[in-house]
Amino acid sequence: MSVMRKKSITSMMELKDKGGTLKKELGAFDLTMLGIGCVVGTGIFVMTGVAAAQHAGPALILSFIIAGLVCSFCALCYAELASMVPVSGSAYTYSYATFGEIIAWILGWDLILEYGFAASMVASGWSGYFQGLLSGFGIHLPHAITSAFNADKGTLIDLPAVIIALLLTFLVSRGAKESTRINTIMVVLKIAVIVLFLVVGVFYVKPANWTPFMPFGFGGVITGAATAFIAYIGFDVVATAAEEVRNPQKDLPKGIIASLIVCALLYVLVTAVLTGIVPYHLLDVKNPVAFAIQFIHQNWIAGFISLGAIVGITTVLFVLLYGQTRLVYAMGRDGLLPKRLSKLNPKTKAPTVSTWVTGIVVAFFAGVLPLDRLSDLVSIGTLFAFVSVAIGIIILRKTQPDLKRSFRVPWVPVIPLLAILCCGYLLFSLPLVTWEAFLVWMVIGLIIYFSYSVRSSRLASGNTEEE
Ligand code: ALA
Repeated sequence: MSVMRKKSITSMMELKDKGGTLKKELGAFDLTMLGIGCVVGTGIFVMTGVAAAQHAGPALILSFIIAGLVCSFCALCYAELASMVPVSGSAYTYSYATFGEIIAWILGWDLILEYGFAASMVASGWSGYFQGLLSGFGIHLPHAITSAFNADKGTLIDLPAVIIALLLTFLVSRGAKESTRINTIMVVLKIAVIVLFLVVGVFYVKPANWTPFMPFGFGGVITGAATAFIAYIGFDVVATAAEEVRNPQKDLPKGIIASLIVCALLYVLVTAVLTGIVPYHLLDVKNPVAFAIQFIHQNWIAGFISLGAIVGITTVLFVLLYGQTRLVYAMGRDGLLPKRLSKLNPKTKAPTVSTWVTGIVVAFFAGVLPLDRLSDLVSIGTLFAFVSVAIGIIILRKTQPDLKRSFRVPWVPVIPLLAILCCGYLLFSLPLVTWEAFLVWMVIGLIIYFSYSVRSSRLASGNTEEE
């Protein structure tokens, strides 16, 4: 029994090509829409206001450029690995080939944390936004079902969060093509709303609002970049779709990089217009984009903005759920989680069991547990995966130099090292309590690994792959 046993990339590809896997029905466009679907959400619609008012001022534009640059280093690394190992599971699968089983398990367990908590948090954020919209129409839900369990406040369950999580799980269970088609419609709608904001807002920009540009100095810009980094999280989820892509070696890198470029462009433009029309110190609000529109008395757009925000947050949740189901499917297929999780629906070829298990767990967490302080835990999980992927690039260039790579990161090892350094810096700027919670999560993971996964692994039964 060796915890360092590796899966060979060649045998993974052979197994995938033999069939019995997910249906290949996605192209570069679907992937880009998945990427934008997962990236553009609360970051731009909610967090930019506080980040501009309290941390960066108008230089939040710079923060978004810096964070976009850091993410582009990571995205290039993801693109190379995805073009080389187009198998479900993203960073988990890559590390199975690079580092060995135990590290793969740690990465898989880490991604479950990232996607799972992010999905639960986004579902409860969605509920807050939805209830805000309802109250605009004078509709108020019974207090007990408006928020997670809290005896002091008299709330029992966040019912809208549970319902949206289950509805989207149903959508994911319909299979990749059908569900991504609906995702694409919602993404187009959300981009249209953002473009509408830009087109109208640009006429009200007063360049004087951009001075002073850096009221909190360069330190503030860096703090703003940490917030902006969260707004970019999501492009990595595209890699989990690998097995459902018709031409993964080419389309995955395209999808990952295109979604990042579109999002970076949107973010920089929105921040520029936002801080150009509202003096930065007034932006300390939870709905900065809608606030800016009211500030310039264009109230007719406010309804569209709310619609764009709610649709935007819905697609973030959808893609997170989708990514989590594909990860759990891959881990079940490898035997590190119960093999039932890799069962496919004979008609749709969708991993129905992993989909419903994921959806029900996410709905439970979103409905019952107060999760609003856990966003740092999502960040630590994401950054950890980014660093591992960048290290993986450097190692695989040495150990498997001849393997076919349809996409190659330029200037290796400089770009992966920059990704490691920048993500490492952000990791170490997270609070101690986040590290403690992360370690607890990892210890639980290792207990599961040593008591179950190490024996049930496909590799343990001498199946196909190599040591
Ligand atoms: N990037 C995602 C968002 O901004 C997490 O909502």
